[in-house]
Amino acid sequence: MDVFGVDIGGSGVKGAPVDLDRGALTEQRHKVLTPHPATPDAVADRVREVVGHFGWSGPVGVTFPGVVTRGTTRTAANVDSGWVGLDARGLLGERLGGLPVTVVNDADAAGMAEMSFGAGRGRGGTVILLTLGTGIGSAVFTDGRLVPNTELGHLELDGHDAEKRASTKARDDEELSWPHWARRLQKYLAHVEMLFSPELFIVGGGVSRKAEKFLPLIEGIRAELVPAELQNNAGIVGAAMAAREQVVG
Ligand code: BGC
Repeated sequence: MDVFGVDIGGSGVKGAPVDLDRGALTEQRHKVLTPHPATPDAVADRVREVVGHFGWSGPVGVTFPGVVTRGTTRTAANVDSGWVGLDARGLLGERLGGLPVTVVNDADAAGMAEMSFGAGRGRGGTVILLTLGTGIGSAVFTDGRLVPNTELGHLELDGHDAEKRASTKARDDEELSWPHWARRLQKYLAHVEMLFSPELFIVGGGVSRKAEKFLPLIEGIRAELVPAELQNNAGIVGAAMAAREQVVG
């Protein structure tokens, strides 16, 4: 079954049709720039542009970088505050001419994709995927089942919101060296491990492409620590998976 996936990120809105049997894009993805400010209206226009590029008419899954419950976006740490309390499913569905839309947290989407087609394939127990980017997103699984909207990026670390200390944005903004940033990440991972005792941490986000620069520097974590495998496409694939569940379920 093919479903369309769209990933709303800090810099780009990207999407493609996804073959859900293989967890792979069936065409090259199309990307447009995320508008700034990322208001609901402006972002919805970009989503229409991406979906329209393929002339798609069918179910569409869309990721969002905040809490999403039953199609309503609840938080907006790194996007315009107009998303808080918004019926995003309704807005996007209307903008896409009535196509069935499912909205899902971006890290939850990436986690679903990694659990089925990437680094978490076949893994039971507690698995936590953390996406490191503008913010820190989290997806928590027990025996393959997702606990949605866990928001572990907003745990407190050294008196700060953890994502302000350990995201890749913090690394860039503060021009931290890899070892310095890895120490912060280690502290954060140790905190999450203390709370959840996962068997496996999957580290996602764009920086996972450079995993060899920082994962080997992290010490004292009991859980296995591996980079995500789907990298750029995890959000698109996970968004499509969420939309299929909506259609099938
Ligand atoms: C948001 C999360 C999101 C993460 C990554 C955080 O600031 O609160 O919902 O998953 O950023 O985009």
